[in-house]
Amino acid sequence: MTAVSPTTRPKLTLSNPELERKVMECLSPLVLTEDQQQKVREVFLDEMRLGLAANPERTSSLLMENTFIPELPDGTENGEYLALDLGGTHFRVIYVRMKNGRFSEEVVDYFHVPSEKRLGPGQDLFEFLADCIAEFVQKRNLGGRNFQLGFTFSFPMTQKSLDVGILVSWTKSFNCPGVVGEDAVKMLNDAIHKRKDLDITVKAILNDTTGTLVMGAYMDKRCALAMILGTGCNGCYIEKVERIEKWLGKHLESEMIVDIEWGAFGDNGVLDFIKTDWDRAVDDQSLLVHSYTFEKYFAGKYLGDLYREILLTLTKKGLMCGGKIGNLHTHGAITTTSVSRIESDTFKGLLEETKMVLNDVKLNHDDDDLHIAQYVAGIISYRGITLVSLITGILLERMQRNHCTVAIDGSLFKHHPRFRPLMEKLISEFAPGRSFDLRLAHDGSGKGAALAAAIAERLEQKRSLTNSN
Ligand code: GLC
Repeated sequence: MTAVSPTTRPKLTLSNPELERKVMECLSPLVLTEDQQQKVREVFLDEMRLGLAANPERTSSLLMENTFIPELPDGTENGEYLALDLGGTHFRVIYVRMKNGRFSEEVVDYFHVPSEKRLGPGQDLFEFLADCIAEFVQKRNLGGRNFQLGFTFSFPMTQKSLDVGILVSWTKSFNCPGVVGEDAVKMLNDAIHKRKDLDITVKAILNDTTGTLVMGAYMDKRCALAMILGTGCNGCYIEKVERIEKWLGKHLESEMIVDIEWGAFGDNGVLDFIKTDWDRAVDDQSLLVHSYTFEKYFAGKYLGDLYREILLTLTKKGLMCGGKIGNLHTHGAITTTSVSRIESDTFKGLLEETKMVLNDVKLNHDDDDLHIAQYVAGIISYRGITLVSLITGILLERMQRNHCTVAIDGSLFKHHPRFRPLMEKLISEFAPGRSFDLRLAHDGSGKGAALAAAIAERLEQKRSLTNSN
């Protein structure tokens, strides 16, 4: 086999041309046509318009939410902060020390969040978080002083201020009753105050994309767009307040970070024209059905399942592996990591990882089966990257910056070998002439939260100065 570049469109070449034709035909709904791409673009622009409008004619699937962060790090950040990062199966507590705007010390601990906490009563979840913070403070000898804290809560929120975040809906692997419609900061504070050993002031609650943008700006002042390509997928950008009709008269700031919550793009049906039966199957088996349409097309929590569903169809139709389905009916039997491994085989011209993945799900295979397995991994990844690049192109055009650094964090971007190179190529095609670079903002959701707490303090000081003058 010959090595293939990650930026080329996946191609299928089999020893049996008739089989090749049948497989291609079966999988054709996963290949986005030019018309479909153009329509995705138009629909996204329209959903953005509706999401920012004062009186939209219908509800947008994009939240376009205020983050209350109008400023980025300016180099004056000093002192100690705590940060929390909740969004996946690992909760992190982070201590940082900042000196003249730079991180001078950093300590991080990870705590596994068991499924009974992710799915049980909300109060238990927040008490668990407070237990973890207390353990961290004690273990790291940080007791006896007050800490200002930034809380990354990677779920859709409606913010009333920098330190009030009302949960709109759970996503990914969380579904705790009693939190939707409540302020996550209040719930955290209640849990903290129940204990007598913690002295913490929650200064800011933020989404992980916001943390990533703030962290991106710490690394490069030209950063104005950030995204998470991980278990979930979402983005935020810097918008001119004068263009946000729904806030007119409510904000004096000139710019604000807006959390798009693009994972929910299409929840109102506007993206159904690209939805396949496999996407429907992935959605039906997910924890929170009929939500987060866009995210379910390719984010890390779902890409492995989408892959498994497609192989299940191909085997059932007798187009692969002698018509035997092995363990393909088992939800979760193939992970997104496996899809990444198969893709790296493709780019190296190898078959070894691909064989291992198929063996793990008890599929017998010949060379044609391995080529089909690689083709499927290629086209679903190509489709996801096309979708996210279309949106990125739109945002770059909208912001019209001389140069825009795009901060990105998340396991898909870090470990899936097609993401970065293909995004670079497609974004240049979708936003021709726009200068941009993609930058890995490592730990945006952790350090970004600490930076947000520092920004919150600065904003407060400015406000009290203005009030006393
Ligand atoms: C989900 C959440 C969103 C978060 C994203 C990445 O889409 O709803 O808030 O930013 O995952 O973690």
